[in-house]
Amino acid sequence: MSSHDNVMEKLVSLAKRRGFVFQSSEIYGGLGSVWDYGPLGVELKKNIKERWWRSLVHEREDIEGLDAAILMHPKVWEASGHLAGFVDPLVDCKQCKNRFRADDPRIKGTPGEPTTRCPVCGNQGTLTAPRMFNLMFKTFMGPVEEAAAVVYLRPETAQGIYVNYLNVLQSSRQKIPFGIAQVGKAFRNEITPGNFIFRTREFEQMEMQFFVKPGTDAEWFEFWRAERMKWLVGLGLHAEKLRFHQHTKEELAHYAKDAYDIQYEFPFGWQEFEGIHNRTNFDLSRHQEFSGKKLEYVDAATNERYIPYVVETSAGADRTTLVVLVDAYHEEEVEGDKRVVLRIHPAIAPLKAAVFPLVNKDGMPELARRLYDELRRHYNVFYDDGGSIGRRYRRQDEAGTPFGITVDGQSTADATVTVRDRDTLAQVRVAADRLVEYLAERLKG
Ligand code: GAP
Repeated sequence: MSSHDNVMEKLVSLAKRRGFVFQSSEIYGGLGSVWDYGPLGVELKKNIKERWWRSLVHEREDIEGLDAAILMHPKVWEASGHLAGFVDPLVDCKQCKNRFRADDPRIKGTPGEPTTRCPVCGNQGTLTAPRMFNLMFKTFMGPVEEAAAVVYLRPETAQGIYVNYLNVLQSSRQKIPFGIAQVGKAFRNEITPGNFIFRTREFEQMEMQFFVKPGTDAEWFEFWRAERMKWLVGLGLHAEKLRFHQHTKEELAHYAKDAYDIQYEFPFGWQEFEGIHNRTNFDLSRHQEFSGKKLEYVDAATNERYIPYVVETSAGADRTTLVVLVDAYHEEEVEGDKRVVLRIHPAIAPLKAAVFPLVNKDGMPELARRLYDELRRHYNVFYDDGGSIGRRYRRQDEAGTPFGITVDGQSTADATVTVRDRDTLAQVRVAADRLVEYLAERLKG
């Protein structure tokens, strides 16, 4: 096993042990590449999504929010090009029924040729020639399972924004340039999912479509490219592990004129987790054509009419959560003991503080409980009175909790507590009635 697998394995194990991420339907043997977020994971992902939302929708006056439905009119996917273009070439084995990507490195030779062997069952000549396979999940709407009732689970949230572009424009009284942001689930029947929550079949996207005047798109593209990188660095990620990758002509999606991935150096290599795309007026033009509804923008000042260009920023909430976890994971030695710590930026850490009575007597639990009840009104905090104080600190290090608050013998005498910093391990005494303020100063940013 390589050390890379090792880091991912340790992270998957920590994620389960501490309640970040569980395999879906685990008691039934699990469901392939589908994951559930536990008590800490749901907080972490929610904090990331909220930070994203705040930075775009609340802190800017030119972006509005939206929550469109997952199920959409099937014509949307004809117009968007996903029915025809969202495909991977795949190969089936007629013998063992396994399905592979046509470029699977395990396939030696040309699929479809009589001498080529199936990489799983080893039979010769059983692989079909590559066929195009659509990645969209299909289901039926209403009581009858017939072709006319087919609907799709959206493979990207962006289309919900395009079809609502005029609704939002008119109801919010925005003017171009302006954007629409949305966070929501997307589904893709990925053939080679994997690497934990990196590539899954059900995932969440955080997408923002910025509508601009044609001709200004290149400028806005550069603006959003810089903004997104700034936001990621602001999450506390190691800047040297982030880089841009510009799409080559071959890599560009069917709708894009220019695109940059933002990549992170995962234990399994540099991989993209966010993209900035210049989608031109492709989507709006196609929706105008397929729906028959005019989607032009009329500039009230100049009377110009045009179909706006779109600069898209598209991030995966799950993939960003994985980046945060991988980036935060550290193993170190403290006084001869191994310590595993998640150095998650305090502002997005699932738990902000944990409260511990040093021992369960002499009035310490009562004071600790009172402090916990008070802090709980402001932050997600945890109470732990089980086991040695060292073990309790270690558990919170693994959970990424930035502050450990201990009520000790002195606390009951002078109403002060110790606050331990997760990263520096420094302990300071703080007046109990100043704790909320003390945490507030350190949790912003
Ligand atoms: N609207 C543009 C779009 O969907 P994409 O590059 O296909 O572009 C955007 O997807 C983001 O969605 C990716 O950067 C990634 O973070 C996330 N994503 C895509 N497929 C995913 C999958 N199978 N599992 C988890 N996240 C995925």
